[in-house]
Formats: sequence, structure tokens, C-alpha cells
Amino acid sequence: MGNKLKFGLLGALGYIAPRHIQAINNIGADLKCVSDLDFNSAQKKEFLPKNIETLDSLEEMIKFHQKDNLDYISICTPNHLHTDQIITCLENDINVICEKPLALSVSDLDRIRKSESVSAAKVFTIMQLRFHESIIQLKQNITSQKSEEKHEVILIYATTRGSEFFSSWRGSENKSGGILFEFGIHYLDILIDIFGQVSNFNVNKLSLNQANVLIEHENAKVLIMINVLSKEKLKEMGQEEVLYRSFTINGDEFEFTGGFQDLHTKSYESILEGKGFTVEDASKSIKQISKIMDEFEKGSTYKPILNNL
Ligand SMILES: NC(=O)c1ccc[n+]([C@@H]2O[C@H](COP(=O)([O-])OP(=O)(O)OC[C@H]3O[C@@H](n4cnc5c(N)ncnc54)[C@H](O)[C@@H]3O)[C@@H](O)[C@H]2O)c1
Repeated sequence: MGNKLKFGLLGALGYIAPRHIQAINNIGADLKCVSDLDFNSAQKKEFLPKNIETLDSLEEMIKFHQKDNLDYISICTPNHLHTDQIITCLENDINVICEKPLALSVSDLDRIRKSESVSAAKVFTIMQLRFHESIIQLKQNITSQKSEEKHEVILIYATTRGSEFFSSWRGSENKSGGILFEFGIHYLDILIDIFGQVSNFNVNKLSLNQANVLIEHENAKVLIMINVLSKEKLKEMGQEEVLYRSFTINGDEFEFTGGFQDLHTKSYESILEGKGFTVEDASKSIKQISKIMDEFEKGSTYKPILNNL
């Protein structure tokens, strides 16, 4: 029992933290301490009986590490905080498992790389869609085919969020990085993994709740359509909340809305097996999103290459 891996977790009161806590339990590791901005007494009571210390900052967690030697810190805080928090962990030689995106710019990614190169610790990220059964199957199908023609692909992701989503850090482009860093990154990651590097792209629409981008990969032309629908507006219209994910490949559509259980555990297991997603792995989608956003800000306009699809 004495040699269980020891974890700390930042952002413990947020939405995604329970999946990390479950993954830490599932891999048989010990969650020793958690941190968030301000635990109330009820929240403290949730952790303290399990011998998990509740701390108010990363600095306190580093002090905890200096006496109790953490192996990993899991980072589940808002996107804009990731880079500096990762670097603090690396400077203290603590391995990191950080939620996507590791960074919101290529220069921040370079800061992480530089810090990792002089640290005894490593950084891993969560790209759980790569462990989704339908995506694994899709990759096998595509890579086993020899096609002269580029595949024609439509990716649809529609989801619903309440007004609290847009009034939180996620509604600020400086903090979330915008819709592509917040949602699109999962899809850019698997598209690059399956269809190869991007050679060209056109942005039709990019706003806080909508992305419509045509991307040409080595092996495919992909139309990405992401829509974040307003819970309140759907309710006003008497409509159900929407959650839908699908790929249409050369005219055949398959849905992959479900099947997301345990993907964080699979991500943690792969890290322990030495197959975790590294800064290098994360850099492909981060670089691509940064390019798309830069071009969009420069005034890139929609060109009708859609007609060729
Ligand atoms: N992999 C996925 O599918 C997935 C899904 C949702 C969110 N995420 C990512 O997870 C991260 C967290 O998202 P969320 O939806 O849980 O957000 P959230 O706002 O629900 O939770 C973030 C938590 O971090 C806390 N926090 C803020 N600053 C902190 C600090 N300095 N130290 C410690 N805690 C701090 C907040 O109080 C909050 O409790 C984001 O990076 C997001 O992109 C990933």
C-alpha cells in the first residue's frame, strides 16, 4: 500500500474534476490533496473524511509536496491558467496531467516545452476522444483504405449550455480561448490524427457559440460545424436540449454522441503505461487552432471551396 502513486488536484470543485477523481481512484492511486479557490465547510466535509486535504492555492499544494512528495498534479482549472500552473509544477519536479488545452498560444506552448526540458517531471494532456471506440474504429477503417481521392467529411457537434456558461470564464475569449480551444480542440486533434496535417482552411463563421470551418487535410476535406445552443432559447421555443456528435464520411453518417464513460480513466491508464499524450502530441491541434484564429482575425473570408465537396 505504501507505494501507491500520490496525486494532488487543482480545480476540485469544477465540472470536470469528478472524472479525474474517479480516474485517480480507478487506477488505484491516492488523492492526497485538492485545491480550489474557496472551499465552504460542506465542500471540505466531502474531502476531509477521505483524508484528502483541502488547500486554497497551488502554492499551498507545492508546500504539501515538499513534505509529502506528490507524484502528479491533475489540473482542472480554467484554460487561461493552465500554462503558468503547469510550469510551477515542472519547476517543482511534479508530473502534470492537465486538461485540454495545455496552452492558448504557440508561445505559451514553447514556455511549457522549455520548462519541461529542464525538469525531472513530464506533462501529459487529456485527449479522451482518441480512446472512444467509434473513433478508434474510424481510424482503423480510414488507415486501412488506399484512396487516391480525398475523403469528404462533415463533422457535426451540437451541444446545449445555459447562460451561466457564457457568463463564466468560458464566455471570455481571453480566458477560454474561444470555441475552437474550448470544444473544437478534441475534433481537430482526432482529425489531424486520422486524416493528416492541414494544408488549407477557410473560416466561414467563428463566434463564441458557433464555428463553421472548412479544413483540407492530407487525406480529407472536412467541414467542421460546431454549435453551442442556448438552453434558455430552446426552452422558450419548447424544444429539448440538444447533444449530437456525428461524422459523415463520403456520404455515410455515423453518430458518436454516447460512449464517453471511462475515457478519463483510459487516459490515466495510458499515461501510467508510458503512452500518454505529451506536449508534442498536444501541439498539433493547438498550433492549428492558433493559425485559424490568427487568419480569422486578419479578416480571412469564406471562399467557396465548399462547392468542391
Ligand atoms: N476533456 C473534456 O472533455 C473537458 C470537458 C470539460 C472541461 N474540460 C476542461 O477542464 C478544465 C476545467 O473545466 P470545468 O468545466 O471543470 O470548469 P469549471 O469552471 O467548472 O471548474 C474550474 C474550477 O477551477 C477552480 N479554480 C479557478 N482558479 C483556480 C486556481 N487558481 N486554483 C485552483 N482552482 C481554481 C474554479 O473555482 C472551479 O471550481 C478546463 O480546462 C476545460 O477546458 C475538459
